Amino acid sequence: MSITMGDAVARCVPRACVLAVGLGLAGGALAEGSYGGPYGFGTPATAEEIAAWDIDAMPDGRGLPPGEGGYEAGKEVYTLQCLACHGPDLGGVAGTGGAALIGGRDTLASGKPKKTVESYWPYASTLFDFTKRAMPFHTPGSMTDDDVYAVTAYILAEGNIIGKDEVMNAETLPKVVMPNADGFIPDPRPDIFNYD
Ligand code: HEC
Repeated sequence: MSITMGDAVARCVPRACVLAVGLGLAGGALAEGSYGGPYGFGTPATAEEIAAWDIDAMPDGRGLPPGEGGYEAGKEVYTLQCLACHGPDLGGVAGTGGAALIGGRDTLASGKPKKTVESYWPYASTLFDFTKRAMPFHTPGSMTDDDVYAVTAYILAEGNIIGKDEVMNAETLPKVVMPNADGFIPDPRPDIFNYD
């Protein structure tokens, strides 16, 4: 017996029916290839607009921009732009929400784990990525790539992860081995192992 459209709609519960109609409309609009479509709003993003948002830096170095920076320049950036909230010793300042950035090595398995960039973060690229997109807290996105590389070098050196003479750039940063690099296990979810 064949099921007609009318049958299917008549049998589905109201909420599922609404969903089906919604998906149908969205599919139609995409098929026409126009963001304006039948609704008359929105414009396709330009390559420049996409580039401004496409700033993720991956552990293997993909996405890291040109530029570089080292300890001394980073210290200056840190003093001017980070110290007020993260503290002169990078230990955090109570009341600002600025976390401790270094310290806490070998505390993760203890009763009082102290999670910092130094003790917890598995990839140095995350420090660059997070700082570039989210810091300073009150003016995120305001730093140059050279300044972000420099302050990254400063924090890594203060955490004794790299030397003070090392310069961070798209080649060197992915090679930094973080103290907790092996502290994570791959999470296979969503998995199908339960159904084997
Ligand atoms: C006005 C205060 C303020 C300033 C200035 C500031 N931060 Fe932060 N920072 C924060 C707060 C608040 C958080 C927590 C944000 C969150 O959890 O979303 C944070 C989180 C971070 C973290 C993540 C720490 C963790 O373990 O989760 C890093 C790294 C960081 N900041 C780096 C910097 C750097 C580098 C600068 C300077 C360029 C800077 N911050 C300037 C307030 C500040």
